[in-house]
Amino acid sequence: MTKFWEKAFKEKQEMWGHVPANSAELAKDFFKKHHVKDVLIPGIGYGRNAKTFIENGIKVTGIEISETAIEIAKKYFGDELTIHHGSVTEMPFDNTLYDGIFCYGLIYLLDQDERQKLIQDCYKQLKDDGFMFFTAITKAAKTYGQGIQISKDRFEMFGGVKIYFYDDESIKEEFGDVGLFEVTDVEENYPFYLIKCRKGMNSHFKMT
Ligand SMILES: C[S@@+](CC[C@H](N)C(=O)[O-])C[C@H]1O[C@@H](n2cnc3c(N)ncnc32)[C@H](O)[C@@H]1O
Repeated sequence: MTKFWEKAFKEKQEMWGHVPANSAELAKDFFKKHHVKDVLIPGIGYGRNAKTFIENGIKVTGIEISETAIEIAKKYFGDELTIHHGSVTEMPFDNTLYDGIFCYGLIYLLDQDERQKLIQDCYKQLKDDGFMFFTAITKAAKTYGQGIQISKDRFEMFGGVKIYFYDDESIKEEFGDVGLFEVTDVEENYPFYLIKCRKGMNSHFKMT
């Protein structure tokens, strides 16, 4: 994973531009409304989604596996943004409890055990009543079923990336115990789910 992402950021640098993803804007609006002040972003890349939170007075801390991505982020944000270097599989990187977690474009890159660990580690780093939002690629994506199948709904493609495609069932299975309260469809470069959980809430799953 490290090699793949290092190479990608070295070659393509700011490959998604600097406009935040639609999901980041939705999360920012929601977080602002709920007075979220301190957000953790696992798999932050070079920080394109951090910008909208910071501009709205929300403090951001990131976790990122690629040193090159972190260097690019430093160029833009300086000391405004702290990024821990390492894999989310090694979480936690600090003892902070956050009001919010926003995890974009990462969870579906992990295997089943790593996904479960990420969800649990994020939940542990939330304050009571805190929110964690994940984006996940759905089975409606054109790429679903392409490449080499590794396990159920997981395929290797794009020169070495492994992608797990979610549906209602797998969302319920993986997020059912961590305060899942809503799943929204969001169109990004792929059809995504925006999965919303709140610490301390009994899960009542709603698709919108
Ligand atoms: C699809 S990109 C999304 C980047 C960023 N969230 C954005 O939208 O601009 C996935 C990001 O997660 C990082 N990443 C992949 N595996 C990781 C891991 N195990 N731990 C931490 N970061 C990881 C990659 O380097 C990359 O920056």
